[in-house]
Amino acid sequence: MAKKKLARLSEVIMTEMVLPNDTNTLNNLMGGKLMHWMDVVAAIAAQKHSNRIVVTAAADSISFKHPIALGNVVTLKSRVTRAFNSSMEVFIEVWAEDIPANKKILTHRAFFTFVAVDQNGRPIEVPEVEPSTPEETELFEGALRRRQLRLILSKRMDPKDAVELRSIFDLDKEKE
Ligand SMILES: CC(C)(COP(=O)(O)OP(=O)(O)OC[C@H]1O[C@@H](n2cnc3c(N)ncnc32)[C@H](O)[C@@H]1OP(=O)(O)O)[C@@H](O)C(=O)NCCC(=O)NCCS
Repeated sequence: MAKKKLARLSEVIMTEMVLPNDTNTLNNLMGGKLMHWMDVVAAIAAQKHSNRIVVTAAADSISFKHPIALGNVVTLKSRVTRAFNSSMEVFIEVWAEDIPANKKILTHRAFFTFVAVDQNGRPIEVPEVEPSTPEETELFEGALRRRQLRLILSKRMDPKDAVELRSIFDLDKEKE
């Protein structure tokens, strides 16, 4: 297995159009439909990085600030930010475009976590990620803290062990 792979090699861009069947009674895209597209675009990025079957382990909080209207074109971009042992964090950005009005806005940013598994569904090791731009480096560095937060929230990590996460709040200094 390759020891490291460039982050950009996992990039996926997916384009969809909001059709009547995708909308709520206000003619805006249903949140669940958008989450489905996000899950798919992120899973493909995780597969490209690991060359494995992947399963969704976590989706960080997604807020719905801007409605996406019927007829809008939705572009989703995903990329693996960092890999740990068997898990990978994937960053997703979503844009909604009203082509006749010539307007395109960034509507969502989110992080999903995928785990590479073998044919029996057991977690399996994945290559490390090598960031090569300032944005990829920032995402790579933040990924460790975000992982610690989600492992604490899912009761998989004791907050005491989240050294990098604690350091941003200066919790240890306050006690000195
Ligand atoms: C995800 C899954 C494979 C983890 O299996 P597990 O037996 O808990 O395995 P482990 O404890 O060895 O954890 C494996 C990795 O998952 C990560 N993980 C597990 N739960 C996590 C969570 N809630 N958030 C973030 N990472 C998580 C662990 O940190 C670990 O990462 P690492 O190998 O990079 O250190 C297993 O829980 C599963 O199959 N879940 C269902 C997945 C699924 O069906 N998804 C679709 C949603 S319906």
